[in-house]
Parts: sequence; C-alpha cells; structure tokens
Amino acid sequence: MPRRYYTFVRNLIAPSILAADFTRLGEEVRSVVRAGADVIHFDVMDNHYVPNLTVGPMVLEALTKAEPEIKTPFDVHLMVDPVGPMIDAFAEAGAHFISFHPETSDDVRSTIGQIRALGVKAGLVLNPDTSINILDATLDILDLVLVMSVYPGFGGQKFMSSSLDKIRDVRQLIDQQDNQIRLEIDGGIKTHNIEQAKKAGADMFVAGTEIFKSANYSETIALMRQKIDET
Ligand code: DX5
Ligand code: ZN
Repeated sequence: MPRRYYTFVRNLIAPSILAADFTRLGEEVRSVVRAGADVIHFDVMDNHYVPNLTVGPMVLEALTKAEPEIKTPFDVHLMVDPVGPMIDAFAEAGAHFISFHPETSDDVRSTIGQIRALGVKAGLVLNPDTSINILDATLDILDLVLVMSVYPGFGGQKFMSSSLDKIRDVRQLIDQQDNQIRLEIDGGIKTHNIEQAKKAGADMFVAGTEIFKSANYSETIALMRQKIDET
C-alpha cells in the first residue's frame, strides 16, 4: 500500500501577488497574511519565457527582509529562461520554495540540486502541454510539483479543467513513493472550483484574482479553506 501523506497534511492557500495592488505591495501581503494565507505565491516573469514582465529578487527581499513581521513563506514561481543564473538571488532574497519550468533548464536534475543545496525547497512546474513523464527522472529529489491550470504568463485566466486529470496522475505518482511532496495547482482557482482541485489530489492552491480582487480577503480565504478542508 502506498503511504497516505496528503490525507493528513495541511492544505496550503497561496495568494498570488500578481493580482495585488503593487502601489501598496507590503500592505497587501500583510493583509493576506492576517487574512489567513499560508504561503505567498511570487510570480517572476521575464518577457522571454513568457510574454509578461513582473518582479525580481529585489522586490522579494523588500518583502522578506524589510518587512520582518511577514513570517509567511514565499513560494517563488520562476517563469524565466535560462533559470539557473537567477536561483541564487532568489534564495538569498528569502525564498522558501523555488519552482521552475523544465523547458528553462538544460539539466533539470542539476537545477533542482542547485535549489536544494541553497536550503530551499525545489519545485518543478508542468504546463498544460508538458507531459508528466519528466517526473520519472526527477520526482525522487523534488519537494513540490506545480501543475499549471492555465498557460503561464498572466493572471485572471480561465481555469482549464483538463488540469484535473494531470493532478490525479501526479497524485498517484507522489503516493507511490515515500517523500513528502507538495502538489500545487496554479491558475484560475476560485471558491467555486477549488474543491474539484482538492478532490483530484492537490494540497496547495494558488489564487490571485479570486483573493486580491475580492472585497474581503479573510472571507474569501475562509471560504476556500472550508471547501478544501471539508473535501
Ligand atoms: C500565471 C501565474 C499565476 C497567476 C494566478 O502565470 O503563474 O500564479 O498569478 O492568477 P489567477 O489566480 O488570477 O489565475
Ligand atoms: Zn504562478
């Protein structure tokens, strides 16, 4: 029998700052932390791997170091090609998780090793068109698998329900081995579909628009938690 890690692990809700008000970023992060966020999802886009451009390690450092009251871990999602040269800076800036897309590395295993050697948890991101086969050669050294439920590059897109099959498949792979590996879903997650993602096997849930564009962050996060903790 495979071990059942995720049945007793806490579900993590990860607001994505991509949908926050950037003129008040520190305050926005403090607000979602007070509202019950477990992790802060930090999307890094380079206008090369994806057509959008966001923030870099200086902004992460401003949030982790200049805002000591923010104790919540940062979950850095790198959409940057090549990814290798950026990893040290994000680790130094205080990332707790660093995830990257396999297409952005010439040697995916060694990039995972590079992240872990810095004391940071390593994640691999699967786009809607990326096969889960890449996990055959990498799952044994991963801390996190992130399944994209939209094409990366922009917030506010529609959830692709085809991602649920991929979540189920990855959940099976994770449960067939002994390491504790998070299964995160990212893109178009709302209070009305988060339960489906949980049922399929996710235990970490990114939500940008749904949380930051809501009138009450606490209520939105509480509703999400209620839906996933009851599932
Ligand atoms: C898309 C990003 C997502 C995005 C999610 O490339 O990776 O993290 O911010 O935003 P919503 O929840 O609005 O789809
Ligand atoms: Zn993301």
